[in-house]
Amino acid sequence: MRAFVTGPTGFIGSAVVPELIKGGHQVLGLARSEKAAKSLVAAGAEVHRGSLEDIESLRSGAAAADGVIHTAFIHDFSNYGPAAEADRRAIETLGGALAGSDRPLIVTGGTLVVQRQGPLATEEDAPNPNFPRKSEEAAAALAARGVRASVLRLPPSAHGNGDHGFVPRLISIAREKGVSAYIGDGLNRWPAVHRLDASHLYRLALEKGGAGERYHGVADEGVPARHIAEVIGRQLNVPVVRKSREEAADHFGWIAPFFGMDGPTSSAQTQQRLGWRPVQPGLIADLNAEHYFEPIVGHVLSHS
Ligand SMILES: NC(=O)c1ccc[n+]([C@@H]2O[C@H](COP(=O)([O-])OP(=O)(O)OC[C@H]3O[C@@H](n4cnc5c(N)ncnc54)[C@H](OP(=O)(O)O)[C@@H]3O)[C@@H](O)[C@H]2O)c1
Repeated sequence: MRAFVTGPTGFIGSAVVPELIKGGHQVLGLARSEKAAKSLVAAGAEVHRGSLEDIESLRSGAAAADGVIHTAFIHDFSNYGPAAEADRRAIETLGGALAGSDRPLIVTGGTLVVQRQGPLATEEDAPNPNFPRKSEEAAAALAARGVRASVLRLPPSAHGNGDHGFVPRLISIAREKGVSAYIGDGLNRWPAVHRLDASHLYRLALEKGGAGERYHGVADEGVPARHIAEVIGRQLNVPVVRKSREEAADHFGWIAPFFGMDGPTSSAQTQQRLGWRPVQPGLIADLNAEHYFEPIVGHVLSHS
């Protein structure tokens, strides 16, 4: 199929593109710069110039495709409301172009923002209505309009070479402060997935996903925060220390509330429904690989 991919040059999207091509699909990738366009051509994709702000570019990209994978997001945590609103508007536009066609639209969500009902968050659990990002709600509304819209929830750590998300931020804080910290008893858990396993799941959801479904791209159900801090401490050769909840905000800055969350998550239903099996290294094994601790060349997620 011909898939329109938003965010095809991002950490996740740049793994999704080759995964789709390997699976025999054609990719039309949204590019907002010449640099992005060049990298898409190099990856064997077609280029669709536009941006999240250019609504018409989203509409025409989706209209020209047999299905859409939406991974673009404006990661500005200091101005999250407008970023969330741009995401909601983008999903509505992409889906509007597919309405009544039963074509698939895969939207990206997060496992940390679900209302967990049991020991592990499951695909049955609804999103937290208080969270400003409304990707899931927007996708659910489209499922009712004849779009095969589903949500792929990613855990707080999608890891692998090129990661510039939460874990590299924790590493740079440990470098700056000379200690690797965890919050409270450090037993709160983060689920995780390797980006190559996640990209395979995006492909399966595109090919086989059902309207209104939620999929969990989770390989590690819950890695204790303390284990993450311990690997970072060992790799950087700095002490591993405990921070109280009160001290955490000062030590970790904007990432403190995320690193303090306990979000153990299952992907059993996803694995069963789509036949997905994560095969890549887990978070701790990947953190023990050297690429996380090489000198930083790219940007690390920041709040501005
Ligand atoms: N990585 C993780 O650990 C993780 C965890 C949970 C959820 N997620 C979610 O997964 C999705 C993909 O994340 P990621 O890590 O791949 O993000 P990323 O590396 O920051 O990539 C973001 C992508 O979106 C594009 N983009 C940003 N602003 C845009 C705009 N205004 N118009 C058009 N394109 C724009 C970027 O294009 P440029 O290349 O031009 O900048 C890039 O292709 C996001 O929804 C994210 O919130 C990621």
